[in-house]
Amino acid sequence: MIQFILNRQHISTDLPAGSTVLDFVRYHKRLRGTKIGCREGDCGACTVLVGDFENATLRYRSMTSCLMPLGNAHGKHIVTVEGINGENLSPVQEAMVACQGTQCGFCTIGFVMSLTGFAMDTTQKDYENAIASIDGNVCRCTGYKSIERAAALICEQIAEKPAAQTLEWLAQNNFIPDYFVEIPQRLAALQEKLSAQNKNSTASSSVLLNIGGGTDLIVQKHHAVKHAPLELLYEHKDFQQIRLNAQSNCEVGASVTVTEWSESPLIQSFFSDLKRYVKMVSSTPIRNMATLAGNVVNASPIGDMSVFLLVLETDVHLKNKEGKARKVALKNFYKAYKTLDKTPDEVITHFEFVPPPTRSVFNFEKVSKRTYLDIASVNSAFSATLSPDGNAFEQVHLSAGGVAPFPKYLRQTCDFLSGKNINTGN
Ligand code: FES
Ligand code: FES
Repeated sequence: MIQFILNRQHISTDLPAGSTVLDFVRYHKRLRGTKIGCREGDCGACTVLVGDFENATLRYRSMTSCLMPLGNAHGKHIVTVEGINGENLSPVQEAMVACQGTQCGFCTIGFVMSLTGFAMDTTQKDYENAIASIDGNVCRCTGYKSIERAAALICEQIAEKPAAQTLEWLAQNNFIPDYFVEIPQRLAALQEKLSAQNKNSTASSSVLLNIGGGTDLIVQKHHAVKHAPLELLYEHKDFQQIRLNAQSNCEVGASVTVTEWSESPLIQSFFSDLKRYVKMVSSTPIRNMATLAGNVVNASPIGDMSVFLLVLETDVHLKNKEGKARKVALKNFYKAYKTLDKTPDEVITHFEFVPPPTRSVFNFEKVSKRTYLDIASVNSAFSATLSPDGNAFEQVHLSAGGVAPFPKYLRQTCDFLSGKNINTGN
């Protein structure tokens, strides 16, 4: 039984875990504000907010409901546009009207949800972050300038938001209805009840599957996913950690999302330009759902995170249903197009890599038709340890996507460059 809070209402449903949140809200709850554009995570018309506790604080993130398995709503607060509507328009809705940010209106709900998510989240309330929050929303009518003006207006109106008691402030200023103030208490009680139920439940014989973004699986095999007896691993706490282990290696759980990876102080300490790299990977609502393991196991020849992890000499840790664990180097994980060194009953539990040493340099680049919100034509990562004087490469790791049937570790180039002096070639 999947249980969560949808807007104000407690939901308890035995619909399949692999059906989508979008279909649930539109066809089972008749909440038709959430729109269907592409059903592929590309347009943002179906954006909802998903609330969950992070370090004991309730945090809302935008996600595309067309790719979100209903099972991943378990224990969360799901907010559709009906859930932010009060008696009057909210300041976000007012700004869209005042700046003529809507024409046909098909995309408008998605923009409103993303900008409401921006108003609710903890990021600095500046124009750059407001625009970043709508990087997954596409409009075919307005030309975007009017929406950008609306985003600027919202920044002005949200500038006074305090760091604490934010839900109360947002409710007092009509960004959200009053019922939100009670959600932390209601959600904590629900999660406590669900965790007690979990302890009493016996193991099922279902298929183990970890779907976060579902960017390929739900698009291409939705029928199969919907009707398979799934146990979604997305919420397992063991799979959500980013930490240094006893050997001082970095471990990243299989359910860690790209957003969590990019916001982790530990990961940020390894890569000074992390924000720029991650901005090239998909869009905000997709990064909020997509896991590193999903990107790796998808085995797309241009998987951005696979290419990134390859140069860190990452090990993939796997476990089968009997609990037998093993690890394999990521560079040996790919065997052929969409073929992995992994049996059907194995799941990835976590990744492990040695943190880049102090004398190292790193870069990730991507070539695509659009700068953002596009898949790569070619992508590449580079990691090198320099000699103490900085004039030679001690060791080089290079990877490339879009050049082979799977993300490729460029072994021979790495061997050739390691130990070479660095010069300008003149
Ligand atoms: Fe287009 Fe979901 S319908 S992103
Ligand atoms: Fe028509 Fe945006 S207003 S798609």
